[in-house]
Amino acid sequence: MERRTLLQAVLAGALGVHLVASAALPVVEVYKNPSCGCCTGWVKHLEENGFTVKVHEVANTSDYRAKFGIPDALGSCHTATVQGYAIEGHVPASEIKRLLAERKNVKGLAVPSMPPGSPGMEGDRSIPYDVLLVKTDGSYSTYRHYNGK
Ligand code: CU
Ligand code: CU
Repeated sequence: MERRTLLQAVLAGALGVHLVASAALPVVEVYKNPSCGCCTGWVKHLEENGFTVKVHEVANTSDYRAKFGIPDALGSCHTATVQGYAIEGHVPASEIKRLLAERKNVKGLAVPSMPPGSPGMEGDRSIPYDVLLVKTDGSYSTYRHYNGK
């Protein structure tokens, strides 16, 4: 009995590892201005967290923001898409993974402006900020609150 339980545990472990390894994260298409340094920081953050990133250097990110349905009031320095969702600004990779897992029927996520301390905006200063869940009608709610330091 004990041996059998151990075998099951080993099998489950092997299967688990296999599932994680085969579940590759989707490509994130990022639209940023060529001169934007913090955008590059955010791209690096996504790559470090397992995403493949395709960067599009564009003159005006707001055109893309409008196309993807994110209200201007929630705008930041870059805009992105992943599996049909819009991702605006310095959204942590963990929240993108959470949205992809939850498969909510929404426009996407936004971190308006550029809060110091958010991914790609690391530095001496860190302030509280909200990751917003943007609904299909353009309204939004807090998806997760981050405390500053
Ligand atoms: Cu930025
Ligand atoms: Cu940016």
